[in-house]
Amino acid sequence: MILDEFSLHGKVAIITGAGRGIGRGIAAAFAEAGSDIVCWDLAMEQAEAAAAAARSMGRRALAQVCDVTDSRQVESMVASSIREMGHIDILVNNAGGAAYCPALKYSDKRWEGVVRLNLAAAFFCTRAVAKHMMERRTGSIINISSGNSQVPAPGMVAYSAAKAGINAMTKTLAWELGPHVRVNCILPGAIETEGSMPALAPVVDRLLAGTPRGRMGKPRDIALAAIFLASSAADFITGEKLEVDGGMEFVHLDPSEVGGSR
Ligand SMILES: NC(=O)c1ccc[n+]([C@@H]2O[C@H](COP(=O)([O-])OP(=O)(O)OC[C@H]3O[C@@H](n4cnc5c(N)ncnc54)[C@H](O)[C@@H]3O)[C@@H](O)[C@H]2O)c1
Repeated sequence: MILDEFSLHGKVAIITGAGRGIGRGIAAAFAEAGSDIVCWDLAMEQAEAAAAAARSMGRRALAQVCDVTDSRQVESMVASSIREMGHIDILVNNAGGAAYCPALKYSDKRWEGVVRLNLAAAFFCTRAVAKHMMERRTGSIINISSGNSQVPAPGMVAYSAAKAGINAMTKTLAWELGPHVRVNCILPGAIETEGSMPALAPVVDRLLAGTPRGRMGKPRDIALAAIFLASSAADFITGEKLEVDGGMEFVHLDPSEVGGSR
């Protein structure tokens, strides 16, 4: 049956940054699609809220505090997830966030923080989970990149460089982990979340004018694409970049226009 091929029944997924925004949307939609889930976030309250929503749909769901920029914490949380859930089939590297700052004002520390969260953390999680997936000879990894990885993004030099690194890492790992584990990435456009709106609110009209679909994205738009990539319907898809952005073209934004610029 066609719908069975898009189902996540019997799967277990780790979703990083599941407490709010796109990660929360992915956690809810994965549960709806039949997956048991492990919700990671910085605060237990946020992770638990995402897990509780999945349990209310009859799924097994674990909430764990895990700072994905700390590779030792990641290793230990992966081990405890496998102990509790039995196995891991899907990893969604979602935790991340844009940082607006003119290039010449970047301190070393700030640069390293943005790159660690938006690039290194996805590697730490992948390294820990993929060992287990390779032993089982099956798995799907989905990295949440950004449209900013492919178009000029003035004011976001560290973020766009880190997300371009995610795209490159996706391709490389598709080869290293193939044929057993698939690795893909999603490039969201402007998505309405708690994290993005303080920055994007002042420029929404400009963003919509550059978007054929004429609306902001919602976490569910990204979640549905992630379900497809995680499911057996995408069995022949690996190393790919999927743009989920309403067709958005490059919109030139001066760093000073974007809310939250420092
Ligand atoms: N919202 C957008 O317009 C947009 C566009 C392109 C890409 N993205 C990407 O999508 C992902 C999610 O974005 P969002 O808008 O939902 O963000 P958000 O800020 O609303 O949510 C991010 C979540 O990640 C968690 N998190 C942050 N640092 C963490 C860490 N070190 N360890 C564990 N959890 C951590 C936060 O607590 C939060 O719950 C990010 O990777 C972001 O770069 C978002």
